[in-house]
Amino acid sequence: MSLLEQIRRPVEDLLRECRTYMCDRMTADDPFVQSMLDYIIGNMGKGVRPLLVLLSSRLHAEGVALGERTNLAAMLVEMIHTASLVHDDVIDESPMRRGNPSVNNRWGANSAVLCGDYILATAFDAGMTSGHYDIPTFIISAMRQLCSGELVQNECNRTSTMTRELYLDIINKKTAVLLSTSAAVGAVAVGASRECVERMTEFGTALGMAFQIKDDILDYDVDAQTGKPSCNDLREGKITLPLLSVLESADECERQRLVALLQAARTDECAVEQLREIVTTRGGLQAAQTLMDDYMNRARAVVAMYPASDVRRSLELLCEFVAARNN
Ligand code: FPP
Ligand code: MG
Repeated sequence: MSLLEQIRRPVEDLLRECRTYMCDRMTADDPFVQSMLDYIIGNMGKGVRPLLVLLSSRLHAEGVALGERTNLAAMLVEMIHTASLVHDDVIDESPMRRGNPSVNNRWGANSAVLCGDYILATAFDAGMTSGHYDIPTFIISAMRQLCSGELVQNECNRTSTMTRELYLDIINKKTAVLLSTSAAVGAVAVGASRECVERMTEFGTALGMAFQIKDDILDYDVDAQTGKPSCNDLREGKITLPLLSVLESADECERQRLVALLQAARTDECAVEQLREIVTTRGGLQAAQTLMDDYMNRARAVVAMYPASDVRRSLELLCEFVAARNN
């Protein structure tokens, strides 16, 4: 049994129910729009966010049947994530997502943007129709932060600038917020106390920060199975933690040379390879790994506050999974 299957075990039935709930609502009258939705739903990822919602609900409501509120929360976080990636591939002009042609590659950028919008509108339509207004209200601020994080990141790419403070703020907004919201809203959905919701927010934030740093490390790994070419961040002019760590310890002359290489990397594969080599040999990946481990330990410490159970074990294994993944 794979690690992910072990993590899913305590909520296997709920995951199936949740998928049916989502497919029943992610529909379109028009066959063309439906075909786009089918393609996108068929190419979704590992479902870490809805899994986190379900585990958090289960953790705070043991032995009780979970209701529509949990399914709704799980669907909303997954659909925000899905739509954000459809839009992200347009922004990054990425031809592939998870080893398959991206939506923009198949139908063009205009249709991809519109389809992302359609997914968001449909998800929140379902949220409002359900009458559980607190759930979409809780989640929508995550979407706002996601957009804000992406906007700041875009501006940093455009100007080839980055600071540690900005980097941490960007990855918090673009990744950690949706994971912390997933963990928190799972607790909200079953009426957990404010203290528990705050604890889940802390867990999800730490896990999400570690998740994005791992993503940024994997981008340098030529053997990673991410479904995308390695070093894409460099080609996009993106300064992530491995390169940032090297820039921080470089003198002004060296820093300028690295920034020039980054600008050249948009079109020059030799510059990409040189930067990869520099970041690797000067300990950039190791520095990023150290900070990732630090966040992971924070996430583990929160989980350790709960009494032992199969759900707590799944959350512990989720930390292992994020730390060890290569895709
Ligand atoms: C992937 O980043 C992208 C995100 C984590 C967020 C993208 C957010 C937006 C485009 C804002 C719009 C939001 C909504 C809800 C429509 P990445 O490019 O580092 O990762 P990748 O390598 O997987 O593409
Ligand atoms: Mg991208």
